Amino acid sequence: MKKQNRWHLLTPTVIFVIALIAMPVWAAQKSVSEDDMGIRKTSLYDETNTQGVKSTPGTTPAGKSKKYDRSFENSPPLIPHSIEGLETITEGQNSCMNCHDPKVAQNVKAVPIPNTHLKDSGDKIDGNSYHCVQCHVVQSDVKPAIENKFTNSFRNQKSRNSSNLSRTQKEGVD
Ligand code: HEC
Ligand code: HEC
Repeated sequence: MKKQNRWHLLTPTVIFVIALIAMPVWAAQKSVSEDDMGIRKTSLYDETNTQGVKSTPGTTPAGKSKKYDRSFENSPPLIPHSIEGLETITEGQNSCMNCHDPKVAQNVKAVPIPNTHLKDSGDKIDGNSYHCVQCHVVQSDVKPAIENKFTNSFRNQKSRNSSNLSRTQKEGVD
């Protein structure tokens, strides 16, 4: 009985001492120098040999492109077509609406903007939504610096390539 008690005290003490010795070694191995912290391969303190990744946005014209699947349910869809010449967007001037206005979208085979982008009255784009390219972005063929391991899932197949937020945003609220 006595012997057992001694071991009972000794074991945690031994583990504590080993941990105390091993901790600085472990910490030293984990440390990263400031120069290695960026994603780029060159120093973060010197731009001399640093070059941005060259990327050319897709050139397929609207009407000829193929829609991308959503990144996740109700994510802002990526723009599959070129937007060259359409980049200037103000509250009063928005070339995207030449095709994405619900009044004309069907005729030009474009997707109408959803109700979530409209003022409560339903006839005008709301102040948060007029600057389309703040959320919808054109795509370039560039190799990502870090592989994205995110996997998405959808509640139904339809939401893979179309939004349902205007119908579902009040789910569970009323
Ligand atoms: C000349 C008509 C036209 C103009 C202008 C236009 N689009 Fe499009 N857009 C389309 C068509 C048509 C599609 C469907 C894909 C296709 O056929 O190329 C589309 C697809 C999209 C999609 C994908 C929708 C989805 O459900 O996946 C987004 C997002 C989009 N456009 C955003 C924009 C934005 C932002 C602008 C302005 C910078 C713009 N579009 C200007 C015609 C147009
Ligand atoms: C603040 C971010 C934001 C802005 C700005 C914005 N959108 Fe969206 N858009 C979204 C999100 C998020 C969705 C998906 C959820 C939804 O339906 O609201 C979406 C969905 C869409 C869809 C797909 C609709 C469907 O039924 O599948 C189209 C087309 C679209 N937006 C076009 C536009 C155009 C054109 C503009 C500019 C007039 C614009 N968006 C501005 C965030 C934005």
